Amino acid sequence: MRKKIVAGNWKMNTTIDEGLQLAREVNRLVDNDPGDVLVIVAPPFSHLSEIKKVLSVVALSAQNCASENRGAFTGEVSAEMIKSTGAEYVIIGHSERRTLFREEDEILLKKVKLALESDLIPIFCCGEKLSEREQGKHFITVQDQLASTLFMLEDKNFRQIIIAYEPVWAIGTGLNATPEQAQEMHEFIRRLIGQHFNTDISDAASILYGGSCKPSNAKELFDNPDVDGGLIGGASLNANDFFAIVKSI
Ligand code: 13P
Repeated sequence: MRKKIVAGNWKMNTTIDEGLQLAREVNRLVDNDPGDVLVIVAPPFSHLSEIKKVLSVVALSAQNCASENRGAFTGEVSAEMIKSTGAEYVIIGHSERRTLFREEDEILLKKVKLALESDLIPIFCCGEKLSEREQGKHFITVQDQLASTLFMLEDKNFRQIIIAYEPVWAIGTGLNATPEQAQEMHEFIRRLIGQHFNTDISDAASILYGGSCKPSNAKELFDNPDVDGGLIGGASLNANDFFAIVKSI
């Protein structure tokens, strides 16, 4: 059976002290009531090594990595550096990175490869904008995003990846995809993986949903057969809300 995963993307929130408090609380809740869900938190870069020290049953992720490993790239943080903090995962291709920082598929593929070389597991985001959905282009948009990035990988590398489907119109808007919309896209993504690689690989791939997922809607989203968990933004900043989402699987 494929892994169930709930990951909290904190985005650019919390000071180190606030982050430590949140991480400790999430770790305590999971430790007191463990299940078979992999729980991951993704704090800002600056917090990673401190937060690593307070986690025992929760895994650690970065929110981005550089597309180069070393050198004169002022302000960038490489996959190798992230790995050295004790983090095991890295979010790549979040829509905020694609839109606000103009990260394109070619750059994202470089990041994925460098992450894998540094033994980090990419949580790779894809998803359409509102205009693309309104024009009925949501499937082809996601297909193109995968074709020019993850589908360029060899089988053994692709197997490592966690995919997050995050429709851009649902991120931070309070307007989540309906369970039906999530299921049909996750099923579509799984079918593409099966066609491009094989069905052993598509059956084993964890595909998370992200976009206004909260305690009140997590269960109906996660109850779908192709939704293997969630990538949570706003609701991951409150330990009780985040844990309620974890418990919805
Ligand atoms: P929200 O849960 O705040 O909509 O954010 C989702 C997201 O972008 C997670 O990466």
